Amino acid sequence: MGADGAWHKIPLPFMETLVVDHPLVAHKLTALRDVRTDSPTFRRLADELVTLLAYEATRDVRVTEVSVETPVATARGLRLAKPYPLVVPILRAGLGMLDGMTRLLPTAEVGFLGMIRNESTLQAETYATRLPDDLSGRQCFVVDPMLATGGTLAAAVQFLLDRGAIDVTAICLLAAPEGLAHMDKVFAGSGKPVRVVTAALDERLNENGYIVPGLGDAGDRLYGVV
Ligand code: URA
Repeated sequence: MGADGAWHKIPLPFMETLVVDHPLVAHKLTALRDVRTDSPTFRRLADELVTLLAYEATRDVRVTEVSVETPVATARGLRLAKPYPLVVPILRAGLGMLDGMTRLLPTAEVGFLGMIRNESTLQAETYATRLPDDLSGRQCFVVDPMLATGGTLAAAVQFLLDRGAIDVTAICLLAAPEGLAHMDKVFAGSGKPVRVVTAALDERLNENGYIVPGLGDAGDRLYGVV
């Protein structure tokens, strides 16, 4: 548990992983898992859940000290520092987490990354990018609902680090141990902070690469089977 009792850390050799441990998070996640939950409700729950996760994930967001005049006196305070954070949904399922993020971080910029697994090489490939070329000094928040094998997320994080991001936090609704282990292995020597924040760490992946017990195909449940 964290000092405020809201999260616990998974001990991995290199990468910081926070499982947000809060009754509201657990309540919404349970409803999200339920096979009877329809798409409109699933979208609303995913949106609400990401805002709760984002609250924890932005604990180290960079701020700058400012002073502000209240009706009574001058108060010292904090504002988000520039350059503002970049939120990056991984298409397509990550789009279901975008509004929840930007509600909490309205001044954040948004970049888009489309990634797909090449079924012959089994490697993640980028098929669409809409991101600043230079991410020097930027804090990035990648949103993708399911951290399964970790191949796609690792490729996305590497993409952002290669463009100069100073740290990357991935926010996932669910994570599998296999995916976390993969992320940990890939970023062990990166020298830059990479973190994962999730609502739950599930048991395992099944033979089809689905998280067990999981919630099924997040993209299909958000947007329908295409
Ligand atoms: N992607 C999903 O949408 N669901 C899983 O369980 C694993 C990967």
